[in-house]
Amino acid sequence: MSSIKIRKICCIGAGYVGGPTMSVIADKCPDIEVRVVDINKERIAAWNDNDLNNLPIFEPGLDQIISRTRGRNLFFSSDMEKSISYADMIFISVNTPTKTKGLGAGKASDLSWVEASARQVAQYANGHTIVVEKSTLPVRTAQAIKEILKTTIRENQKNETTKTFSVLSNPEFLAEGTAINDLEKPDRVLIGGEDPQAINALVNIYLNWVSSDQIICTNLWSSELSKLAANAFLAQRISSINSISAFCEATGADIKEVAKAIGTDKRIGNQFLSAGPGFGGSCFKKDILNLVYLSGYFGLPEVANYWNQVVLLNTWQQDRIYKIVLEKLFGTVNGKNIAILGFSFKANTNDTRESPAIRISCELLEEGAFLSIYDPKVSIERMKEDFENHSFDNPMIWKMANSIQEALQNADAVLILTAWDEFFGLDWNYLASFMRKPAWIFDTRSVVNREEIKNTGLNLWKLGEGT
Ligand code: NAD
Ligand code: UGA
Repeated sequence: MSSIKIRKICCIGAGYVGGPTMSVIADKCPDIEVRVVDINKERIAAWNDNDLNNLPIFEPGLDQIISRTRGRNLFFSSDMEKSISYADMIFISVNTPTKTKGLGAGKASDLSWVEASARQVAQYANGHTIVVEKSTLPVRTAQAIKEILKTTIRENQKNETTKTFSVLSNPEFLAEGTAINDLEKPDRVLIGGEDPQAINALVNIYLNWVSSDQIICTNLWSSELSKLAANAFLAQRISSINSISAFCEATGADIKEVAKAIGTDKRIGNQFLSAGPGFGGSCFKKDILNLVYLSGYFGLPEVANYWNQVVLLNTWQQDRIYKIVLEKLFGTVNGKNIAILGFSFKANTNDTRESPAIRISCELLEEGAFLSIYDPKVSIERMKEDFENHSFDNPMIWKMANSIQEALQNADAVLILTAWDEFFGLDWNYLASFMRKPAWIFDTRSVVNREEIKNTGLNLWKLGEGT
């Protein structure tokens, strides 16, 4: 089949998806010029910073790719007009958060940024342009994008008749912390579309490093829905194992043993069975809520209720952890020092969006605890913003600690919320000397080995095991 040769790509949105995805495309396709644009000028400046430690996102392996590609065939810019007008293919990789007001508030996705991007594309594009949805979007959004592209052109008719567009869906499945590996060795690449030439053009880009049997082509709506469904299935597994973790605590079963026992069944599989403080991240909750909203919209209330329960269980898991802390500390944390180890929503990322640490910390602050928070990658500015988004009845007292030892100074308890490598194998005998007795370790990520705290005088509560 004849195919359009892509020479210039533009990506709108230089975030956790746009930045790494375009870096890998630039790395694997040296003949293609890739421009990543963003309305956030600070973010673009950070992507262009000579010191690679200042890149706006932390992702293992990203700095090496950036050092190879930036300035060669990868460019970060705020010049929307130029970058869009040059491009043969434009990825829309902007944020699609849950709506906070209006119809569908709290569930439906807010598509303002996608719509704004489509309008920019309609305004600045030249000739034939392939527009690729990279953001996670409600089913049938491609239809809305097509309408916007068509109508905007009609409105500005003069000199615009030569503009044509094909719209594709190409959802991203990378997980933060392993983004580069996920992009370089994806389980599959999903492309939804109607125009065979456009599909072929995108397939040819991926063929530079992905084998053809891993590239799945579907219709637009299957592609959009598959992304939401994949995230819903993954999140459902976490809620399932977390529900069983509570069961273990109640019965004396051990969640790691149970996870192993069920995960060895090939039909179930052993991935994504780690119980923890609930899923965080910018997408699982948002995407399930979106699915819930769409189910309601399409007249499927039972389907909506089914998926909604996954989110409810996740919130319950976070709440029950802070209540256990309270109970173990004699029913009150008022005036007590609590160390929080790990603030990002998972290890190997500086992202805190929907991090369980935020909700749990806020509950403890509300109860009057003093928090000392240590995370290897999350900045104090990020923490401040996260707390500012919550309204507190009590004055909240917290500080960022620069080391584990500093966080544990005079602490009555330490709460481990993220499984950063450096939290494994700690010398608890030494660390116990900094804490005020009786002191507790609350381990929600199974990083502490019971043997390690023997003879330290510390009490240990482990999620899914109990005391
Ligand atoms: P993000 O917030 O990190 O980045 C989005 C960027 O888009 C921001 O920098 C914002 O300034 C920019 N932007 C918004 N409107 C713009 C416009 N009109 N013009 C130019 N720039 C604009 O978001 P993200 O985490 O990269 O997620 C993007 C999309 O990808 C979402 O739909 C998300 O659901 C999906 N997704 C995210 C992940 C992930 O791991 N974060 C994985 C797969 C899919
Ligand atoms: C998730 C999916 O894994 C990606 O495929 C998807 O592309 C992405 O969402 C998205 O659409 O944004 P991400 O949220 O970055 O990726 O990270 P995950 O590894 O999925 O972890 C999500 C949350 O679940 C984290 O808080 C993590 O700690 C938690 N989790 C994960 C568990 O509690 N237990 C597990 O076994 C696995």
